[in-house]
Amino acid sequence: MPLVNTTEMFKKAYEGGYAIGAFNVNNMEIVQGITQACQALSSPVILQASAGARKYANGEYLTALVRAAVKINDIPIALHLDHGPNFETCKDCVDSGFTSVMIDGSSLPYEENIELAKKVVDYAHKYNVTVEAELGRLAGIEDDVNVSEENSSFTDPAQVEDFVKNTGIDSLAIAIGTSHGAYKFKPGQKPQLRFDILEEISKRLPNFPIVLHGASSVIPEYVEIINKYGGSMPDAIGIPEEMLRQAAKMAVCKINVDSDLRLALTALVRKHLAEKPSDFDPRGYLGAGRQAIQDIVEHKIKTVLGSEGKA
Ligand code: G3H
Ligand code: 13P
Ligand code: ZN
Repeated sequence: MPLVNTTEMFKKAYEGGYAIGAFNVNNMEIVQGITQACQALSSPVILQASAGARKYANGEYLTALVRAAVKINDIPIALHLDHGPNFETCKDCVDSGFTSVMIDGSSLPYEENIELAKKVVDYAHKYNVTVEAELGRLAGIEDDVNVSEENSSFTDPAQVEDFVKNTGIDSLAIAIGTSHGAYKFKPGQKPQLRFDILEEISKRLPNFPIVLHGASSVIPEYVEIINKYGGSMPDAIGIPEEMLRQAAKMAVCKINVDSDLRLALTALVRKHLAEKPSDFDPRGYLGAGRQAIQDIVEHKIKTVLGSEGKA
């Protein structure tokens, strides 16, 4: 099966009340762990690369790794640009074989966000590449951007029809209380998502795919392993899985997960090295990390996404 864009995936996910996992990729073991999980459970998947990932690995390596995964497995795979910072990066990804891009103009004034997203849509659609844009602003940390809580804001449902109509985008990322990174809520704070906003948005945009960024659950077992084996991540808190499952049954068709993969990989590499202190073969500890990625992605498919058997 060749690389696909997100159109069919989202249509089926919307109708079927499940979501597609969009997992960040930075190296070979991560690509392998994710796709092995999806192949094992017959789930479609979005592999996404951020600007930081393309800088770290070199975009050529990432696209080659994803092409290898497409060849080896028999499931729908989309290659997506995560948080495209400008038109040039989106164009570069379209030109180099990505099948989907996000243009992140969420920090721009409304009209400029529209103008930029439309420019990307006009280019990407010529090549059958789907486009995601964001309205509202998530708190938290991405590679070069740290959005403080004061500068974050929920998506305003009153703007969504106008935004989608004037940009021509294929999916919309919204802010309803999720945030990037491993520290999403303060200790003692009750995790909450604004399902009322999601509901209102989906009423205004019937059959339109919604995207949730910052949707890691920061699974306590992995944080405990990190803390046990020399790490220090006190107070890491994520989005409860049952809330994400609920969102996946609603209009949310794409759930972005990076931090949970980072935590799983880091935890099992730390554990491996602590238990086998004389192992200096990267295939030993990176193999443990890859298995951790496969395990966490299988867990997500079963408990959060509901995409098992939907390939
Ligand atoms: O939302 C951002 C993703 O977690 C990617 O993070 O920019 O550090 O690659 P990154
Ligand atoms: P997390 O940090 O919650 O994994 O979010 C990842 C993300 O939104 C990637 O775009
Ligand atoms: Zn994100």
